[in-house]
Amino acid sequence: MTFSSSSSSSSSSSFSSLVVIILGVLVLLHESNAQLNSTFYSTTCPNVSSIVSNVVQQALQSDPRIGASLIRLHFHDCFVNGCDASILLDNNGTTIISEKDAAPNTNSTRGFGVVDNIKTAVENSCPGVVSCADILAIAAEASVSLAGGPTWTVLLGRRDSLTANQAGANTSIPSPFEGLPNITNKFSAVGLNINDLVALSGAHTFGRAQCRLFSNRLYNFNGTGNPDPTLNTTYLTTLQTTCPQNGSGFNVANLDPTTPDGFDNNYFSNLQNNQGLLQSDQELFSTSGSATISIVNSFSSNQSTFFQNFAQSMINMGNISPLTGSSGEIRLDCKKLN
Ligand code: HEM
Ligand SMILES: *[C@@H]1O[C@H](CO)[C@@H](O)[C@H](O)[C@H]1NC(C)=O
Ligand SMILES: *[C@@H]1O[C@H](CO)[C@@H](O)[C@H](O)[C@H]1NC(C)=O
Ligand SMILES: *[C@@H]1O[C@H](CO)[C@@H](O)[C@H](O)[C@H]1NC(C)=O
Ligand SMILES: *[C@@H]1O[C@H](CO)[C@@H](O)[C@H](O)[C@H]1NC(C)=O
Ligand SMILES: *[C@@H]1O[C@H](CO)[C@@H](O)[C@H](O)[C@H]1NC(C)=O
Ligand SMILES: *[C@@H]1O[C@H](CO)[C@@H](O)[C@H](O)[C@H]1NC(C)=O
Ligand SMILES: *[C@@H]1O[C@H](CO)[C@@H](O)[C@H](O)[C@H]1NC(C)=O
Ligand SMILES: *[C@@H]1O[C@H](CO)[C@@H](O)[C@H](O)[C@H]1NC(C)=O
Ligand SMILES: *[C@@H]1O[C@H](CO)[C@@H](O)[C@H](O)[C@H]1NC(C)=O
Ligand SMILES: *[C@@H]1O[C@H](CO)[C@@H](O)[C@H](O)[C@H]1NC(C)=O
Repeated sequence: MTFSSSSSSSSSSSFSSLVVIILGVLVLLHESNAQLNSTFYSTTCPNVSSIVSNVVQQALQSDPRIGASLIRLHFHDCFVNGCDASILLDNNGTTIISEKDAAPNTNSTRGFGVVDNIKTAVENSCPGVVSCADILAIAAEASVSLAGGPTWTVLLGRRDSLTANQAGANTSIPSPFEGLPNITNKFSAVGLNINDLVALSGAHTFGRAQCRLFSNRLYNFNGTGNPDPTLNTTYLTTLQTTCPQNGSGFNVANLDPTTPDGFDNNYFSNLQNNQGLLQSDQELFSTSGSATISIVNSFSSNQSTFFQNFAQSMINMGNISPLTGSSGEIRLDCKKLN
């Protein structure tokens, strides 16, 4: 009886210590590995989505391309060290070497001024609360929605990085020239699969691309002396006018020639018509035997299927390695560390 009671008391006390240790570990795991959620700002900045959307709507009045530019910033942010607003940091002369000067971004990414305007509007309502990384995620959804695309519930709670990674931006962001196997690998490296690749490529249903990023297809493709054989010949003639041989590589063409500023599934019927603008676009449909072909066909034949998959893949992309808990900071100015 005594033996049994003492044994029970000792085992109950070591059980309590074990519970305390387990709870402690769980709290630590929770702190360092918290999940994003849709209600993160519900008490601290309940109106953040409409504040962001209003500024995007304002910017669209004078620049119908800006929504496309903003979603691309979120993409180029998430692929480098996760969705942590590292892309927004300017050079600071010493440790911060800006991703804005990385090969995929220089003379190409745009919309930084609008991000600053959004941040100012958000800070006016909710000072010091909303991260720049979350602003990019919210602005991406607003841009798609305002262009006629799907809406989705944006997951929030990201914090802003204390570093930039220009070398990472040079190597992790897919290039339009590198071929489907390499692009698939770069998506896979951040946990995105072939369905995400095809769905997210559908963002090329709006926005523009510079001639220098596809004119290799127009005159002497891959050393053949001829245009890319997967390029629709009618479309080729149009593009050759926009991008004359030896002309400015900075001229731009619409990524979707049919509905340039609308968010719809025409991107996928364009691919079926050999009207993909970038080599990386057309390869999704024209690479024989590729698993991407049937996904293109499915999104082309049913816009709802595309919209549902796009929304889910944007959530997947937005979940790439966020900083949470007490990691990083909430930047007051998206361009620099506090
Ligand atoms: C699959 C690999 C991808 C490649 C190789 C690629 C490549 C490119 C290139 C070369 C441009 C033109 C940039 C310029 O002319 O300055 C561009 C524009 C754009 N990209 Fe992608 N991209 C890819 C995936 C994505 C994803 C995942 C998204 C978003 C979810 C996206 C959204 C956009 C948008 C909206 C534009 C137009 C931007 C504007 O008009 O300012 N792209 N992309
Ligand atoms: C959302 O995430 C934050 C931070 O991890 C947490 O404090 C909050 O309880 C979460 N909300 C819900 C509804 O899960
Ligand atoms: C939230 O935003 C909406 C739309 O912009 C506005 O009508 C409303 O007054 C705002 N509410 C608060 C509490 O700021
Ligand atoms: C750049 O940022 C780093 C990290 O915060 C800081 O130590 C350094 O002093 C900054 N350099 C300049 C010139 O502000
Ligand atoms: C960016 O574009 C300008 C011309 O608009 C050009 O002078 C400069 O060399 C370009 N920079 C890079 C890195 O391509
Ligand atoms: C990234 O690429 C750009 C353009 O090619 C180059 O100027 C820069 O030095 C590279 N940065 C790093 C850190 O590799
Ligand atoms: C594809 O990736 C491989 C391995 O990283 C690299 O050697 C090759 O140059 C890449 N191909 C292109 C076209 O960039
Ligand atoms: C380019 O040419 C090389 C060598 O002829 C060939 O192996 C490669 O498949 C070609 N690439 C494309 C995209 O046609
Ligand atoms: C473009 O430039 C190359 C070399 O500079 C030249 O050989 C060619 O004739 C030019 N083509 C046109 C259409 O001007
Ligand atoms: C070229 O595009 C037109 C639409 O502009 C389409 O009717 C035609 O079928 C396309 N041709 C090929 C070979 O895809
Ligand atoms: C299109 O896809 C949606 C959602 O995936 C489905 O509910 C609908 O039945 C499909 N429509 C047609 C015509 O197949």
